[in-house]
Amino acid sequence: MKKRIPVLLDGDPGHDDAMAWVLAKACPFLDIKGITSVAGNQTIEKTTYNAMRVCTLLGIDAPIAMGRPMPLLCAPRTAGNIHGQSGLDGPKLPEPTMQLSPLSPVELMAKVLRESDEPVAIIPTGPMTNVAALLLAHPELKENIRLISFMGGGIQSGNWTAAAEFNILVDPEAADTVFRSGLPLYMAGLDITEKALIFPEDFEKIRAVGNEVARVVADWLEFFYKFHREIGYEGAPVHDPCAVVALIRPELITYEDMYVEVEKKGQYCRGMTVGDQKGVLGNKPNVHVGMKIDRDGFANLLLEAVKTFDSEGK
Ligand code: RIB
Ligand code: CA
Repeated sequence: MKKRIPVLLDGDPGHDDAMAWVLAKACPFLDIKGITSVAGNQTIEKTTYNAMRVCTLLGIDAPIAMGRPMPLLCAPRTAGNIHGQSGLDGPKLPEPTMQLSPLSPVELMAKVLRESDEPVAIIPTGPMTNVAALLLAHPELKENIRLISFMGGGIQSGNWTAAAEFNILVDPEAADTVFRSGLPLYMAGLDITEKALIFPEDFEKIRAVGNEVARVVADWLEFFYKFHREIGYEGAPVHDPCAVVALIRPELITYEDMYVEVEKKGQYCRGMTVGDQKGVLGNKPNVHVGMKIDRDGFANLLLEAVKTFDSEGK
């Protein structure tokens, strides 16, 4: 049996964050050591409540720490138009069965890193505020980090502005800190997540699995599909689970090693992930950028993941 990989999940659930956590929980060789919420899709109060409800639904038994209410330096922004006023509109979810950790996200992540006998993989699927704060507060713990596999950015385009993807745009300074960290970085940006499209035939197969998690995931996908159809997408771009794929089925993604920097200024391009695809700068690549994804393999991964939950969703 593969040695289990300890992971920290950091996100702003968020329908696709929740589905990323389904993949992580379903994977037998990932060991979820902690969850940290971040402000992004909705306010920190809402994303934290959603994180607790999703962990209750999935039976994730790990400490949950409430993140910072706003980005490192700039004003917060939310995406209620996509994820709804709750941040996770759609199917009814169980009320949390756990208490929040008394620790801050930085303290929780630092504790996990110190106590783990294996280097820890960090999987941020929202703005990288907490992860940047960890790296700034505890540079000595970088040696305990296996990699950071994040959903964010896009070399070819943005989705919140023409240039910037939402997670990076919400906190460009945090993203810049991560991109400059020197750690192994795997980027699940729009270049692959907008190809990870899920269609009705996919989520009806998931619904047919018949357990509680399958029904909820199908409802999340249907909610996401309806919104994105209205704005011109063919299917639902299920962004965040792509960050987990890098750890559990890396062969489904084709990566290009690239030097990428984050634009922190600019009237039109703040938050843009500027990838030097031709290597004109001659800088050493700092990011493995996902450029292609096996969509059918990705859809099947989601289907197989929901089958691992029993009828009570645990
Ligand atoms: O741009 C997509 C990202 O923004 C996803 O992580 C989604 O959950 C939102 O946070
Ligand atoms: Ca997210």
